Amino acid sequence: MSPREASAPAIAPAAAPGRERVALRGDVLHLRADPGAAAEAPPCVHFEPDGWLLAEGGRVVELRAADAPPDPSWPREDWRGHLLLPGFIDLHVHAPQLDVIGAWGDGLLRWLDDFTYPAEARWADAEHARRGAGRFVRQLLAHGTTSAMVFPTVHRHGVDALFEAAREQGMCLVSGKVLMDRNVPEALRDEVTQAERDCVALIESWHGRERLRYALTPRFAPACSDEQLRMCARLLRIEHPRAGAPYLQTHVAENRDELRWVRELYPASRSYLDVYAGFGLLGRRSVLAHGIWLDDADRALLAERGSTLAFSPSSNLFLGSGLFDWARADAAGVRVAVASDVGAGTSLCQLRSAAEACKVLALQGTRLSAWRALYALTRGAAAALELEPELGHFEPGAWADVVAWRWAAGELQEHRLGLARSLHERLYAWLHMADERNVAAVYVAGRRVQHRPS
Ligand code: GUN
Ligand code: ZN
Repeated sequence: MSPREASAPAIAPAAAPGRERVALRGDVLHLRADPGAAAEAPPCVHFEPDGWLLAEGGRVVELRAADAPPDPSWPREDWRGHLLLPGFIDLHVHAPQLDVIGAWGDGLLRWLDDFTYPAEARWADAEHARRGAGRFVRQLLAHGTTSAMVFPTVHRHGVDALFEAAREQGMCLVSGKVLMDRNVPEALRDEVTQAERDCVALIESWHGRERLRYALTPRFAPACSDEQLRMCARLLRIEHPRAGAPYLQTHVAENRDELRWVRELYPASRSYLDVYAGFGLLGRRSVLAHGIWLDDADRALLAERGSTLAFSPSSNLFLGSGLFDWARADAAGVRVAVASDVGAGTSLCQLRSAAEACKVLALQGTRLSAWRALYALTRGAAAALELEPELGHFEPGAWADVVAWRWAAGELQEHRLGLARSLHERLYAWLHMADERNVAAVYVAGRRVQHRPS
């Protein structure tokens, strides 16, 4: 710990944002728009070396350059020599699957049966679920992720536990009861009438409450009956007075065996994606994980509907699912975010997700710039949630979700970053070498939270 960190202020207890003010000093970086594919710094990159980020009442007030410090009435927290980034947003991650990271799996379908479903069945115990939800939220923060779209389990009490844990930290979290009424172990199977009642009650409790949002969560087409997918479509039409329509999250076209299975179950559908389209589940608030095995017609449909693909490179490599073709998705105009998909993904650290994404693109002869990666982890993901006006960046009025990252943790990182000749080179090397050990402090809505639980 550096002397500056040692003198950092005491950690405030987690609570809803008050009117407090704070001025954070450090190398402030955020993106004002999608930077596109270029590696040279585009004008949308806003970098204030040794600058100031001023937050009041949980929201960003303004960014200032080094030579324009705030007046002495502002309480200051000194992160000089650190990189201040918007908290990362993980658009696809499974809370109960912390228990199965790195499990000896053999492709998606066996991995689900052998490890994942048994771990999720343990959430039937409400106390186990509550502890798991708390651990999951703490660990998101420990890895520099301040917002997420999350699969819990089929159990209603687990959804409550997860939202409650996120609410205590003041976080933005999107989640919903997992829907799965066929082709899964009996212990995890739900039933449509009760599931609909649970979803309606959960939407009423959580959707638009503080920074929480509800997502209808049909696990994937093979685990959901037609009746259940029709129920999702019905509830997607709710226009809730607090937050509008709910979201939808699911999986699509991840694995070739899965694709064959969907073809058997839905012989009349043109493609796997077309199953969801047929039930009316594709819209601007729909996030579909993977989308590796799509064709051009699928991509055109996703673009037309404004749905997002959650590219989960760590998971795709771990399960051997395939290489997501970002260039094709991009050319078709499909929105893409980068997600961890823990526990098939092996790290909650979104820097690892970005680094793996770079490698997946390299295997296909393309590149992912540090700017684009950073955009996908912050503002781009917020745009996919239709929360861009207030999330994923440091424009005035945005939530002050900020992570102070050490540029270098240890001699090797320090040596390598010292050789960088441009900001992009520095950032690109950093995203490949840094991880959660580089997290020095985490602020959610302007409050510093305990990010390294003992
Ligand atoms: N498809 C259906 N369920 C899952 C899951 O839990 N993880 C992944 N990676 N794919 C899925
Ligand atoms: Zn998943």
